[in-house]
Amino acid sequence: MKIGVPKEIKNNENRVSLIPGGVHAFVQHGHEVFVQTQAGANSGFSDEAYQKVGAKIIPTAEEVFATADMIMKVKEPIASEYKLIRPNQLVFTYFHFAADETLTKAMIASNAVCLAYETVTKPDRSLPLLIPMSEVAGRMSVQEGAKYLEKPQGGKGILLGGVPGVKPAHVLILGGGVVGTHAAFMAAGLGAHVTILDISLPRLRYLSEIMPKNVDTMMSSPYNIEQLIARADLIIGAVLIPGAKAPHLITKGMLKHIPKGTVLVDVAIDQGGCFETSHPTTHADPVYEVDGVIHYCVANIPGAVPMTSTEALTNATLPYGLLLAGLGWEKACEKYADLREGLNIVNGKIVNQAVAEAFI
Ligand SMILES: NC(=O)c1ccc[n+]([C@@H]2O[C@H](COP(=O)([O-])OP(=O)(O)OC[C@H]3O[C@@H](n4cnc5c(N)ncnc54)[C@H](O)[C@@H]3O)[C@@H](O)[C@H]2O)c1
Repeated sequence: MKIGVPKEIKNNENRVSLIPGGVHAFVQHGHEVFVQTQAGANSGFSDEAYQKVGAKIIPTAEEVFATADMIMKVKEPIASEYKLIRPNQLVFTYFHFAADETLTKAMIASNAVCLAYETVTKPDRSLPLLIPMSEVAGRMSVQEGAKYLEKPQGGKGILLGGVPGVKPAHVLILGGGVVGTHAAFMAAGLGAHVTILDISLPRLRYLSEIMPKNVDTMMSSPYNIEQLIARADLIIGAVLIPGAKAPHLITKGMLKHIPKGTVLVDVAIDQGGCFETSHPTTHADPVYEVDGVIHYCVANIPGAVPMTSTEALTNATLPYGLLLAGLGWEKACEKYADLREGLNIVNGKIVNQAVAEAFI
């Protein structure tokens, strides 16, 4: 199969979908890999490094899309890429369709096969291609939140861990999945007082077993959220209902209970965001204020640390990419339920229930 690796063009997106080690694996299995020039540069991989393992370096995205049977990307195609996608072409990347009707319509019109990283699902319902980026985003959410809590950045001016004799900041985490767990470990490690809310009791039991002493767990409910937001300094939104739009756990009306200078980091923004007042931002201009409350809503948080996240992502995607290239998408999806669940749009039709329901 011919595999295409275009350079990512979303704002400050520095990741790339294959590292040279991945190209090597495809070539060893008899496939051809076409890498757009400089695609790996911001992740630390030169064109020469790809060439050495057998990739062909291609000057433009147009040629990569025109040549490849399977496009492997990181982020969803953006408007200038829509027209490059061909009927029957397999596009294997993050899509997050439920949050983006324009993209969904464009991919329906393209007649391509859209296999979304974020809905590839293991039998235990875990999301193997979301996990590595959620690990990165969870850790980053605390790093970024701590920065915007500083006074010169518009925040309250509070140090997450406090100091001896001064109490630490309070970090509230909505959703105790992968993002929430990694955020909690980071915030707790810095000395903050952390509360994690989730709707799953088994998950809360697990978290209370593994978390350090400065982390509490609570059932997520509108009542508990309303009680906790007034005394939180940093609130991290990390909920997920796979494939669906994120629920608005903090509404615009609730902002009046949140003190000015509090920082909201909406990691779930790629699924529409779990705060009503969230809208996607970029690494170039990551924050805005509503009623004095700082919102950080970058939809590709891991893009800022590509040396870490490119490798973490490709460790997870490569085995699936090899299955798709080896068997073709139809046979691979027939044989492997994980991949079948990744199918979101096939030749003009939405085939994922949660995505379909998002647009009813
Ligand atoms: N912005 C970014 O760069 C970025 C990067 C990675 C992941 N994400 C997003 O972060 C979100 C979380 O991802 P994840 O991997 O942690 O998902 P996950 O499935 O591991 O965890 C989600 C958790 O949310 C909980 N939940 C669902 N509804 C809830 C509610 N009403 N209240 C409290 N908890 C609730 C679930 O029980 C689950 O434990 C997803 O939307 C994902 O796409 C964003």
